[in-house]
Amino acid sequence: MNFELTPVGLADVATQKADVLIVLVPKDFKAGSGVVAGLIGAALKAGHFETKVGKLLPMYQAPGVASTRMVLVGCEDGAPRQVRQAVTAAIGAAKGPGVLQVWVCFGWKAPADLVACAVAAVADASYVYTTTKSKPEGRTVSTVSFGGVDKAAVQSAFDHAVATVHGVELAKEWANRPANHATPSMLADAAKALAKRPRIECEVMGPKKVAKLGMGSFMAVARGSEEELRFIVLRYQGAGKSQAPTVLIGKGITFDTGGISIKPAPEMDEMKFDMCGAASVLGVFRALADIQPAINVVGLIPSCENMPDGRAVKPGDVVTSMSGQTIEILNTDAEGRLILCDALTYAERFAPAAVIDIATLTGACVIALGGVRSGMFASSDSVAAQLLAAGEAAQDLCWRMPLDDDYAEGLKTNFADVANVAGRAAGSVTAAKFLQRFAGKYPWAHLDIAGTAWKGGAAKGATGRPVPLLLGYLLAEAARVGSGAVKPLTPRKRKSA
Ligand code: BES
Ligand code: MN
Ligand code: ZN
Repeated sequence: MNFELTPVGLADVATQKADVLIVLVPKDFKAGSGVVAGLIGAALKAGHFETKVGKLLPMYQAPGVASTRMVLVGCEDGAPRQVRQAVTAAIGAAKGPGVLQVWVCFGWKAPADLVACAVAAVADASYVYTTTKSKPEGRTVSTVSFGGVDKAAVQSAFDHAVATVHGVELAKEWANRPANHATPSMLADAAKALAKRPRIECEVMGPKKVAKLGMGSFMAVARGSEEELRFIVLRYQGAGKSQAPTVLIGKGITFDTGGISIKPAPEMDEMKFDMCGAASVLGVFRALADIQPAINVVGLIPSCENMPDGRAVKPGDVVTSMSGQTIEILNTDAEGRLILCDALTYAERFAPAAVIDIATLTGACVIALGGVRSGMFASSDSVAAQLLAAGEAAQDLCWRMPLDDDYAEGLKTNFADVANVAGRAAGSVTAAKFLQRFAGKYPWAHLDIAGTAWKGGAAKGATGRPVPLLLGYLLAEAARVGSGAVKPLTPRKRKSA
């Protein structure tokens, strides 16, 4: 999909020829000059149109308007969430066969963040998954033009929003693919393809190298599958070599049956989404290549299937992680933490400024927070504050959860240094406490995206979250480090990977 920011304003948008022209109208709309403003003013005066969020007035061949169809949509106060809802409603009403060119015009001088919201909402509402359909319909909307705003003032936010959309769509694509079309080696190939883009490098390790690294916990999860595991290392180099990178770690379980602790059949298909953390890392790298911020980022993706088999790891088995800590695997369905812990240890070699892992980790997080906010755990208050702020700004929310040591009691066992599960209580917190044991050497945060990474039911599909949150965090970080406002947390000697 192509996005274009134009200098055209509401006064002359009537001359623009698109398949559909969407006009966002706030509650304090002031009718200036121009055909469209006149029509809005008349519709409001007659009571045929209201500016409540999502209220629509569709028109066909409106007099003096070059676009075939025009849809007025209410935006109320013009808050980010309202703009999002309004655009979603308007695209929903307008999209269909033959709607290729869409025009979106703000009815007021909207600031940069609202334009970014509108870009994200148009992309979301018009996204269509086609990869495994025999007759791909293709996406209907192909070009989207924006106007009615101060072009110079919003251009850079607009460019970031478009790059974010590309990242979100890559994440959705890989997350939506069924597990037989998104194996660990296929994910690795997707990462390698990203390395063709500027400033990105990719290294992929298979079972032999992973064994040599001593990732006994990760290997234990992969044992039950015919598909070989992959450990993917992505690097984006946007700043000097001496600048400590931010490391993103994405859970890449391409299918989670639960293993020997097998899951019940209903909705098990949704466990193809258990690599949404990995997909979000791919999406972030795609966007970084477009935006080219002055920051260094490392992406780590441990990827395998979790399958039951004669060779599969069994409840009660004890394995040795890369950190040297032994783990009693009491439940083979708590596999995400088992692959992440070795990646967390591997991350130490980058002497990172911060490490953020992203994982569809626990059903308990879905119970706690639902699909609105991702669960966020952090050992560093400043990283936590930055993630919260980035989530608010990008409308990709998270919520901080606790890490009190008392929550780790249930992970104690007589047979290893730690067990991989505690009781049912506070399941997302005990999972985070397990991870924290492996993340002591750098500022660390964990995002549990089990509730936010995909939607079930009729609208089943990946959301591309938390790509916008992560990009917001990284761009803010680039601005902070670039401006010299914040010094690196602790200067460390860096080894090469
Ligand atoms: N991938 C699942 C978590 C999950 C479940 C995400 C349902 C979204 C919806 C994870 O590997 C898992 O199975 N976790 C277990 C942990 C339990 C065994 C301690 C869970 O949440 O049930
Ligand atoms: Mn599981
Ligand atoms: Zn899982």
